Amino acid sequence: MASGSVAVQPTIRPRESWGTRLGVIVAVMGSAVGLGNFLRFPGLAAKYDGGAFMIPYMIALLLLGLPIAWVEWAMGRYGGTKGFNSAAGIYRAIWPSRISTAAGVLAMVIPVVIYMYYVYVEAWCLAYAFRYLTGGMNLGLDPAEYDKFFAEFAGLQENGGAFSSVVHFGLGSAAFFLVVCFLINFYLIYRGLQKGIEWFCKWAMPTLIVCAVIVLIRVLTLGTPDPSKPDQNVLNGLGFMWNPSTKSQSFWEALANPQMWLEAAGQIFFSLSVGFGIIVTYASYLKRDDDIALSSVTSAAGNEFCEVALGGLITIPAAFVFLGPEVIENPKGTFELGFVTLPNVFNHMIFGWLFGFLFFFLLFLAAVTSSLSMLQPAIALLEEGLGLGRKASVAILSFVTAVGSFFVVYFSKNLIVMEMFDFWVGNVALYLLATFQVILFGWVLGVDRGFEELRRGAEIHIPQFFKFVIKYISPLYLLVVFGAWCYQEFWAQPRILLKIATEPVAQAAVGFLILVIMLFAILVTQSVRRWERLKQLQQEVVP
Ligand code: ALA
Repeated sequence: MASGSVAVQPTIRPRESWGTRLGVIVAVMGSAVGLGNFLRFPGLAAKYDGGAFMIPYMIALLLLGLPIAWVEWAMGRYGGTKGFNSAAGIYRAIWPSRISTAAGVLAMVIPVVIYMYYVYVEAWCLAYAFRYLTGGMNLGLDPAEYDKFFAEFAGLQENGGAFSSVVHFGLGSAAFFLVVCFLINFYLIYRGLQKGIEWFCKWAMPTLIVCAVIVLIRVLTLGTPDPSKPDQNVLNGLGFMWNPSTKSQSFWEALANPQMWLEAAGQIFFSLSVGFGIIVTYASYLKRDDDIALSSVTSAAGNEFCEVALGGLITIPAAFVFLGPEVIENPKGTFELGFVTLPNVFNHMIFGWLFGFLFFFLLFLAAVTSSLSMLQPAIALLEEGLGLGRKASVAILSFVTAVGSFFVVYFSKNLIVMEMFDFWVGNVALYLLATFQVILFGWVLGVDRGFEELRRGAEIHIPQFFKFVIKYISPLYLLVVFGAWCYQEFWAQPRILLKIATEPVAQAAVGFLILVIMLFAILVTQSVRRWERLKQLQQEVVP
């Protein structure tokens, strides 16, 4: 723990901290609750026979999600007491090594790159909400109209399509709302931790839950909207989603599908925002004796409530009662359910425009509370690593992310850049960082010392059993899941590798990622040099 013995004050600003205990809980919960809860989760649960999917999902939550969240909370608060808010600084406070520095680079690249495409989907949500209010989503009942609309709106058919469609859609276009979302995110980040992130999450989280409950009540009271199709009722919709063996296979056959276990683990990571390098940064703004045990469990429980009880009960049953199971069973793409099927569903409802607005507005709020958390880690690094002020940090980060988002949005044909970024960063890098963190906590800091940290100020008792889980089970589980994922994606069905081999845009996306990694490698290395100089100076002053 070499640098752990000296508290460095690397920023030129006074150190920030959360205003209230509730503030940090809603901020972490806000980071977790996002598009993953309302769009990704229901799609996956339906794909794998809901009830069966919940088994690997809950196991991944208990053996990976929660333990790694605890690891991140504990290491973050520990790093904060040593004067660091950036992941690189925090990891090095625990283990001053090149591997920590490299992991610190990864912990910058992951949230920043995910932000670059996540904010585009966030913009779709706000644009849809706006269009519902202004009558722009009234496309009739023909499903083909919704397909056509979304393809043009998001620019799926040709590169540059999202920009050229501004002419057609004007204020209701994706590109316009992308600019709006950028402005909102960076304005809040500029205002800082308490006045920006905490303030926004404190009102956005309850608002989005209220909107979701209203939409949920509407969905659960739909009954059998079309009497000529008595099977398409809400109960059957819920059964379609949650019964473990509604489709062509038994519960045990469903459970034996390795792909389901991989996707369940991936969903837990994405949904809880673990392995992103976000929670370490958020937790670093806590004070030494603040509780982290109860806060972490509360925010994870809040996320699960939003995911399973709200996300899991709205979209699929609603689509089922109006459009039947076929539409859900054969989605044409990742965004089909959210941006094509559901708008059609809302148009079947009385006051559909209102429920459509509420749904997409809540998605937008959920997305902003997540995207804010993707920006803060890099802001922390720019401030404490390079000693920059808030204005300069925000200017640099907004420029870098704007270039990245432009790249994603311009090459919008089949969303290939988004797919590449999500594959390499949202999957590969995420697994690597999660594995590094759990090993750093369990083996380098030491699981006993780590638990002392976790239990200081704790308002609930975290069972001793989890020491064993963090030290042995989580790393092993990660290794097996990641190994199987690599086998699947690089060997059995190497569709991404094939795309890279054949499509110039896919190659450009990989090239772009390499540039982003190089940029953050330079920033992190410069920061490490600066911290070492500062430490030396402090040691000279206080020998
Ligand atoms: N955790 C965030 C989500 O679920 C990233 O969307």
